[in-house]
Amino acid sequence: MSEEAPVGAEAPKGLGGKKGRVINFTDLSAPIEGHKRWQSGNEELDRTLGGGIVPGSALLVGGDPGIGKSTLLLQITGALADKGMDCIYISGEEAADQVRLRAQRLGVENASVRFAAETNLRNILTSLDNGKPPQLVIIDSIQTMFLDNLESAPGTVSQVRASAAELIRFAKSRGTAVVLVGHVTKDGQIAGPRVLEHMVDTVLYFEGDRGHQFRILRAVKNRFGGTDEIGVFEMTSQGLEQVSNPSSLFLSSRDENVSGAAVFAGMEGSRPVLVEIQALVAPTAAANPRRAVVGWDSGRLSMILAVLDARLGLSFATHDVYLNVAGGLKISEPAADLAVAAALISSLSGVPLERDTIVFGEIALSGEVRPVPQSDLRMKEAKKLGFETAITPKANKKNKASSMKRLEMGKVVDLPDLFNISS
Ligand code: TYD
Ligand code: MG
Repeated sequence: MSEEAPVGAEAPKGLGGKKGRVINFTDLSAPIEGHKRWQSGNEELDRTLGGGIVPGSALLVGGDPGIGKSTLLLQITGALADKGMDCIYISGEEAADQVRLRAQRLGVENASVRFAAETNLRNILTSLDNGKPPQLVIIDSIQTMFLDNLESAPGTVSQVRASAAELIRFAKSRGTAVVLVGHVTKDGQIAGPRVLEHMVDTVLYFEGDRGHQFRILRAVKNRFGGTDEIGVFEMTSQGLEQVSNPSSLFLSSRDENVSGAAVFAGMEGSRPVLVEIQALVAPTAAANPRRAVVGWDSGRLSMILAVLDARLGLSFATHDVYLNVAGGLKISEPAADLAVAAALISSLSGVPLERDTIVFGEIALSGEVRPVPQSDLRMKEAKKLGFETAITPKANKKNKASSMKRLEMGKVVDLPDLFNISS
């Protein structure tokens, strides 16, 4: 045994015979520090974050180029600066004049945001440490930043990781909230936001397609809140406007009584959202009929098709099947199963569902329609928007909230009745 070895138990061999420092254990009920949050006043964002921005946290905001990340962040920064917070916005993509023009368009040009167009991280960190640390720093985008002691080019995985690590270290040590903007890239050369997800506290993705005016902000990771909340925005000529009633938006362009459409009463976090599910079932002579899905899981679609075949004898084997969730929303709830099945059968039969009807329910492989959570909230929202009838799982019967007509469904075999099909 060597001279320094502590008395008592011998240090384990795997640690090279050396002992470590004794750490202090505390209990879980100790007072919590840093549960404070900065509210931007933008309810869609604050809710998605779980109540606001946490001081000292690192956030990643990812999304396709042009989706509106810079717009949203400049608006939020302006709002927080107006509340007296010390906010810094650093752009590595746009020149000062471009950002000023955008600020004018968004009406935040008079907010006391400190701005710089810069990509050298050494300069940025030195400047951030010059005086009292700011409360919020936006880095737009992380892919443009570089550390001059690394050889690789900006945007490469090593640069993006190392730059993010430096900024996150700064956030943790100074209590500054740091927001990293990351472009989602299809090109393997440039590191996308995924390589940073494990490093930051919160990951938000900004979704939507550019053909539509609305945008969805979704929390996919949040150390300080839930991950099922979404924020809905509409891109206007004056920036992103909050959409506090998304259902009306997703249903706004519904056609009269077409077959193949079903309105799903879904839940996005704490909020009910009604959305139209559209199916197109078209005969084909191809040996491998097409299955194309937008906004839903394609594996789940295959499952529903298999259940409809096995339990109802409805075969889609000689048909192409296209499924689309209207408005660019992505749905992950199994509760959409029954609405998907209804849309498929409606398209196959050419018989539309009653226009004032909503549908929800999970479908089991046995063909059983299983209950889903929060049926009261779903029905209340539907009622509010003028729907009169709900096709729901039988087991969701304890519903007191609504005077809607309910068509209870215990098994999918009852579905064809809605479309006058005898199965
Ligand atoms: P931007 O925030 O620059 O996207 P990102 O930072 O994610 O790349 O948004 C770009 C698009 O948004 C651009 O096509 C113009 C449009 N836009 C508006 O429609 N209204 C506005 O007020 C602003 C600022 C941008
Ligand atoms: Mg941008």
